[in-house]
Amino acid sequence: MKTYEVVKGCTGLDGLRRTERAQPKPGPYEVLIRVHAASLNYRDHMVVIGRYFTAVDRDTIPLSDGAGEVVSVGDRVTRFKAGDRVAGTFFQVWKDGPRSGWSPALGVPLDGMLAEFVALHEDGVVPIPRHLSFEEAAALPCAGVTAWNALMVAGGAIQPGDTVLCLGTGGVSIFGVQFAKAAGARVIVISSSDAKLQRAARLGASDGINYQTTPEWEKEVVKLTGGRGVDAVIEIGGGGTLARSFQSVGFGGKVCLIGFLAGAGDTSPQSLMMKGASLQGIGVGSTRMFEEMNRAIEVNGIKPAIDRVYPFEQAPDAFRHLESRDFVGKIVISI
Ligand SMILES: NC(=O)c1ccc[n+]([C@@H]2O[C@H](COP(=O)([O-])OP(=O)(O)OC[C@H]3O[C@@H](n4cnc5c(N)ncnc54)[C@H](OP(=O)(O)O)[C@@H]3O)[C@@H](O)[C@H]2O)c1
Repeated sequence: MKTYEVVKGCTGLDGLRRTERAQPKPGPYEVLIRVHAASLNYRDHMVVIGRYFTAVDRDTIPLSDGAGEVVSVGDRVTRFKAGDRVAGTFFQVWKDGPRSGWSPALGVPLDGMLAEFVALHEDGVVPIPRHLSFEEAAALPCAGVTAWNALMVAGGAIQPGDTVLCLGTGGVSIFGVQFAKAAGARVIVISSSDAKLQRAARLGASDGINYQTTPEWEKEVVKLTGGRGVDAVIEIGGGGTLARSFQSVGFGGKVCLIGFLAGAGDTSPQSLMMKGASLQGIGVGSTRMFEEMNRAIEVNGIKPAIDRVYPFEQAPDAFRHLESRDFVGKIVISI
């Protein structure tokens, strides 16, 4: 089967190699999936440049996210049959309930989805929403479930009438916009670009702030909420933005810590104390969360925002596009 590998010790895109591997066979409890599309997350770029903790220590198939069709099932599989349209879950496997230990993720340390076929445990596979194409469904496993966990699970679900603040316009944040909007919340987005803010508005954001031209964006957030502050923050900046997120969150609100794109820092959480606000660490989500999210996506007719779909042969260009930051939502590769 055709696939790509990030070669052992890889520190740049020249180490992303197109190659062939033997087609996997499904063992007990496993389903064999013909993958039709895979999507990129920020993490996948870090893996290729050798900065996701460290460079990969073996040739590894990249990408945690993909969707396709079940072609056959192994012994004792009860949840799926040939022909089912499915996606793999990020963790293999965090099935349900609070996370109680480390489970390995697709794309590193496990082989990922940028391949024609994968064999996955049935508990690490979910049916995809009927109205989505494989390209759209491939956007869901990491970015979608992370935003869902942040807004609807961790620290309690947001409520209609709440205000959500999303930092940036990448995969996680745009799902945050769409889920918050569907839940009846108001959404404020901050971005480096006015053009991106306009696209976020078309996807459901009611207010946009350019953080390049308004570096003290937290003051604008407080103003936009009449001094109240927001109920939830999709925090992808980390140390470099946390202090402003702490100022932006209102009484009883939550700051969902997801990424560290704006670098490290030594922010004091003191301002959360008197507001009774909380800081929630988010680690993608469980198979159960993915299933519940898909139900909401189907009922609300939500379509993931795909910036561009690349053919398999141009996978390196998809990584270059991610690196450029010149996109909104998700970048997808069809297989
Ligand atoms: N904890 C978890 O479970 C989890 C799950 C998924 C992702 N993450 C993390 O969350 C973050 C976002 O992931 P993603 O896949 O949504 O990213 P992405 O699709 O690559 O989007 C990144 C966006 O963030 C904004 N940004 C702000 N500062 C940035 C910087 N210094 N470098 C790059 N982008 C910056 C940019 O939007 P604007 O130009 O509009 O500002 C950019 O387009 C990453 O740190 C990722 O590792 C964590």
